[in-house]
Amino acid sequence: MQVRRSLISTGLTVAVTAAVTATLTTTVGASATPAALPAAAASTTGAAAPAGHVPDPTTATLRQLAQHTKLRIGTAVNTDALANDATYRRMVAEQFSTVTPENVMKWEVVEPQRGQYDFSAADQLVRFARAHGQKVRGHTLVWHNQLPTWLTSGTWTPAQLRAILKQHIFTEMRHFRGQIWAWDVVNEAFNEDGSLRNDIWLQNLGPGYIADAFRWAHQADPKAILFYNDYNIEGINAKSTAVYDLVKRLRAQGVPIQGVGAQGHLDTQYPFPNDMLQNLRRFGAIGVDTAVTEADVRSVLPVDPAEVNAQAQGFSLMLQSCLLVRSCISYTLWGFTDKYNWVPGVFKGEGYATPFDENFNPKPAYDTMRRDLALAPSLPSRGVRGLH
Ligand code: G3I
Repeated sequence: MQVRRSLISTGLTVAVTAAVTATLTTTVGASATPAALPAAAASTTGAAAPAGHVPDPTTATLRQLAQHTKLRIGTAVNTDALANDATYRRMVAEQFSTVTPENVMKWEVVEPQRGQYDFSAADQLVRFARAHGQKVRGHTLVWHNQLPTWLTSGTWTPAQLRAILKQHIFTEMRHFRGQIWAWDVVNEAFNEDGSLRNDIWLQNLGPGYIADAFRWAHQADPKAILFYNDYNIEGINAKSTAVYDLVKRLRAQGVPIQGVGAQGHLDTQYPFPNDMLQNLRRFGAIGVDTAVTEADVRSVLPVDPAEVNAQAQGFSLMLQSCLLVRSCISYTLWGFTDKYNWVPGVFKGEGYATPFDENFNPKPAYDTMRRDLALAPSLPSRGVRGLH
């Protein structure tokens, strides 16, 4: 059998630092009373532990277990499944305190023809969230993907394209104004080597499009937390350092950017980002909130027991890192069930990416996350401004 490199990286207890290990993993599976754990956990991080009930991690939902940590737990939502699948709908409501539309706030969906807007599917999700006391992460305004054909096949001067982008941001954000907790304003603008992606925006508008997008977004909905969002920026590397440098520069210029989202798409055949805790900390130190925005851990199919375990470790590494960093305000799964999942359509022969199988049965990853939440420090608030 081929030994995949991730099996080495599953020594997570080594990965996340001794403090994390002591706080979150040593009592895993032990018979400690959950209610007694937050105080002990908090004492290792120096945080005061407010009196708070921690439910039984073997029976409570992610949402219930996260409450004492003030971390929002979310999922991307497939709105077709939400409309048609009662089990899916019930689980979204029970397990999560934020939702992100997987596709229906993207430009190709909201403005399929120029000037013809369709917010109906996204509106339904926003209504669902309100009915279930959930916050909404808006996804996404400026991206190179899922753009409408009228836009990508048109011929535009830079001035025209800039006006089109500005109008898109204003129209969409004003439509949802006051109802979106955090927006992914700019998505995936960097290459792996830290250079900017040579997409329609960079080619036509130059690198200033990023600052412009955040300024327009802030004007359109001043209360939303404005995020830069990308993949492979969980650990410290050329790409995450380029994002870090950009965010620092933009903030020094007064550009309203308040968050950085690490998507968190892991694969058990590659090493996991063992320095994620340090990476989230350095972003917090420059004054931005952080979030895990699209967590999933895929494998080559069929999975073997080691990969099942590695998946749990991957979700746990990202969750532990987020829980231990006060700037980290939410942890969102990019879908929670393999029944509706993007991975098999994009990575041939891969799947098993979420914590629940096609029949909504929980995998070991689910219990691991529940335990992480139960053992995490109880905090009075989260976010660099202590607002969440
Ligand atoms: O809407 C059409 C439908 O009309 C058509 O019948 C069907 C036929 O294939 O395609 C449908 O569109 C698909 C769309 O999802 C909605 O289901 C597209 O083909 C498909 O490419 C698209 O995939 C989405 C992908 O983004 C596109 O890049 C995935 O669902 C979505 O999970 C994924 O999400 C991205 C994040 O936005 C950004 N970060 C990476 C992440 C994973 O790729």
